[in-house]
Amino acid sequence: MRKYAIVLAAGKGTRMKTELPKCAYPLLKKPMIAYIVENIQNSGQFDEIIVVVGHKREIIQDILGDKVTYAVQSEQLGTGHAVMVCEPHVTDLDGFTMILPGDMPLVDTSVIEKTIIEHQDRRHDLTIVTTKVEEPEGYGRIIRNESGYLDSIIEHHEASMSQRTISEINTGIYVVNTKLLFSTLNKIDNHNLKNEYYLTDIVGIMQQSKEVIGTYFLREAYKSMGVNDLYALSIAEAKLRLDINKQMMLKGVAMINPETITIGQNVVIEENVIIHPNTYITGNSVIRKGASIGPNTEIHDSIIGEKVVCRHSLVYNSIVDESTTVGPFAHLRDGAHIGPHNRIGNFVEVKKSSTQENTKASHLAYIGDATVGKNVNFGCGSITVNYDGKNKYQTTIGDDVFIGCNVNLIAPIHVDDNSLIAAGSTLNKNVPKGSLAIARAYQVNKENYIKDKKDQEEINEN
Ligand code: UD1
Ligand code: CA
Repeated sequence: MRKYAIVLAAGKGTRMKTELPKCAYPLLKKPMIAYIVENIQNSGQFDEIIVVVGHKREIIQDILGDKVTYAVQSEQLGTGHAVMVCEPHVTDLDGFTMILPGDMPLVDTSVIEKTIIEHQDRRHDLTIVTTKVEEPEGYGRIIRNESGYLDSIIEHHEASMSQRTISEINTGIYVVNTKLLFSTLNKIDNHNLKNEYYLTDIVGIMQQSKEVIGTYFLREAYKSMGVNDLYALSIAEAKLRLDINKQMMLKGVAMINPETITIGQNVVIEENVIIHPNTYITGNSVIRKGASIGPNTEIHDSIIGEKVVCRHSLVYNSIVDESTTVGPFAHLRDGAHIGPHNRIGNFVEVKKSSTQENTKASHLAYIGDATVGKNVNFGCGSITVNYDGKNKYQTTIGDDVFIGCNVNLIAPIHVDDNSLIAAGSTLNKNVPKGSLAIARAYQVNKENYIKDKKDQEEINEN
């Protein structure tokens, strides 16, 4: 017996009115489709996940990689048709299949688990998850008979005025016995207003053949919210943001103005961290104990060590070790690894470079493609010249090096331990251990220059 999850993500998302396929839209900087697929995986209930892709499928496949099986629906002929194209991938018809739309980022593992329990305990052939919403516009309505049993699902635009007043809706989540699913799908047609194969039509057909159909009522209606347009996206994102921030605060993370703080779903933040307003921490970031982050800071896919202070800065795909201060207005990117007790100050950019402990670049510096030792001081305006317009070159700097202001280190170059580089130097040769390097024109003072010039001008005038 094999248990399948099918996720529908082939649709264009016409109502988004934009280029990106709907299920690729991000919430808290993570694509919508990644939420549902991760939750399906985390539920541990399935042997195989099949994602139906179609419109701009490369984008969806790029996001999910090889974690799932893909079924291609080249023409989007409706949700029923989308499930039909999975048939060749379904090799074992004995178990059940759960079907979920790719546009429901708030469905969590508990919804998935509870629906399956309901399906199995009550020995249903088909279980439909329903809920009640105040504004049912756009959703399929649940039509029940006099005894209260499910009769059919009718799509909003096919529904009569009186049916539209029904507030119980189809969430679009189903569990169904696999064999029955595919045999029933063969019987649906597209004779409706949209000329689409509606998955919801399997309900009426199974009803007629007296299969056991049940509903599972979801109390937390918001979890089944389908994101069809950019407004709904913002509502879903706000909901997720509040939930995540609340969990963080209850675990000992302090937040100033939490409405302005965005923490991604996969971020780990340890206790005693304080987060200031207008801060984004997203991707697979980790913030260790006692750090202070923000205001106005973006951290993505990065690890921030204990007691780090990071203000008004951007940190992408980088590591910052303990007790270092970053910012204001610093930019760390592309695998920068800043050692402990460093100071990366105002308008300093560090790219693909590492530093050891106690190194400082307090203002206006660029450190790119460099390996830097401990106790190094970068003076104001000092830079690594790593690019000749075609290729990038490496700079290596030893320990205890003092780099004066406005120094250009033309890479490839090595500056050995315990050396001193005079301010304003442009170096294109290695600096040996313990030396002073000076590479600038000598100063010439022309005495009385101003007075002499003035005198000459007066003579010329007369
Ligand atoms: C669907 C349901 C509706 C339910 C609602 C819940 C049908 C006919 N209607 O309507 O009863 O209340 O979800 O949110 O099923 N998709 C494909 N291929 C297609 C068409 C759609 O993969 O040919 C995918 C979409 O990418 C989307 C999902 O299926 O992720 C749902 O499609 P959507 O157009 O959003 O359906 P709704 O109109 O919301
Ligand atoms: Ca939808």
